[in-house]
Amino acid sequence: MTVMLDDVRAAAGRIGRHARQTPVLTVEIDGRAVTFKLEQFQVTGSFKFRGALNALLARGAAATPVVATPVVATPVVATPVFAASGGNHGLGVAAAARLRGLPAVVYLPHGTPEAKSSRIAAAGARVVHHGRRYAEAESAARAEAARSDGIYLHAYDDPAVIAGQGTIGLEIAAQAPECDAVVAAVGGGGLAAGLGVALGPAQTLVAVEPDHCDCLHAAFAAGGPTDAPVDSVAASALGASRAGGLPFALLRACHVRLAKVSDQEIIRARDRLWEELRLAVEPAAAVPFAAWLADRVPGRHACLVICGANTAWQPA
Ligand SMILES: Cc1ncc(COP(=O)(O)O)c(C=O)c1O
Repeated sequence: MTVMLDDVRAAAGRIGRHARQTPVLTVEIDGRAVTFKLEQFQVTGSFKFRGALNALLARGAAATPVVATPVVATPVVATPVFAASGGNHGLGVAAAARLRGLPAVVYLPHGTPEAKSSRIAAAGARVVHHGRRYAEAESAARAEAARSDGIYLHAYDDPAVIAGQGTIGLEIAAQAPECDAVVAAVGGGGLAAGLGVALGPAQTLVAVEPDHCDCLHAAFAAGGPTDAPVDSVAASALGASRAGGLPFALLRACHVRLAKVSDQEIIRARDRLWEELRLAVEPAAAVPFAAWLADRVPGRHACLVICGANTAWQPA
């Protein structure tokens, strides 16, 4: 099982009618040019909608009318879709399932920000809080999916999800060909892996993790995915305790560069995005900018993926 450039191109064709092509913004900061891929403008407020929608469309999943017995009201068979999430994947799944006419059930760990859980419920999904970590929510979601003959949609270790996230890379290649590095935050590695498949050799991929929330670094150190601690201000988005097997294999094959940032650097970067550019984002989305500000990104001109903005906003 792998993901190829053609899979990403096919994903772009599938999701194009519903997903937005998000804009890029090039500015000068601290005397250096930098480009932001504004994926917080994606439907649902994060890139996760791309992967979830591609996965449901690729499986042909849709509520199917039952036509065997001619009756006045045609019953509809709707396969439920299950997901476990720190919030953004759940939101993507809820919106994609609704588009397909399918019921969605999203398992979230306790402590998921209200800004995320309330939006998932508003998108029509049943929300179940379970466990303290993403991994615990995942086991419970898988078990209920198996009991109910539902679809389980993994947040990052799924080829169709990775191909969907990779469509961001196709857009960057067309919108910002001058960029020689593309930088993304890592949870379980699906976003970075999709970018790695989509980008050409002229654009170095840099995958950034918070300190103490660094399962991809742990995977590279161990030679394969392994459990790692989860403790960061960005944990609700990047809190996978184990990198996906498929993302790891794809990232190793594309010679990804790795970097880490501290919580303090993430918060500082998030605040600068607001103060200097009026970009209001969640902590995970500031992770690439934090690495860039700390000079941990190679090349002359980087493109930083602003991956999500599902955070509380309280205007004064
Ligand atoms: C805002 C945001 N950025 C990045 C990621 C990391 O994505 P992945 O798990 O595919 O590495 C997530 C995951 O939920 C996210 O919500």
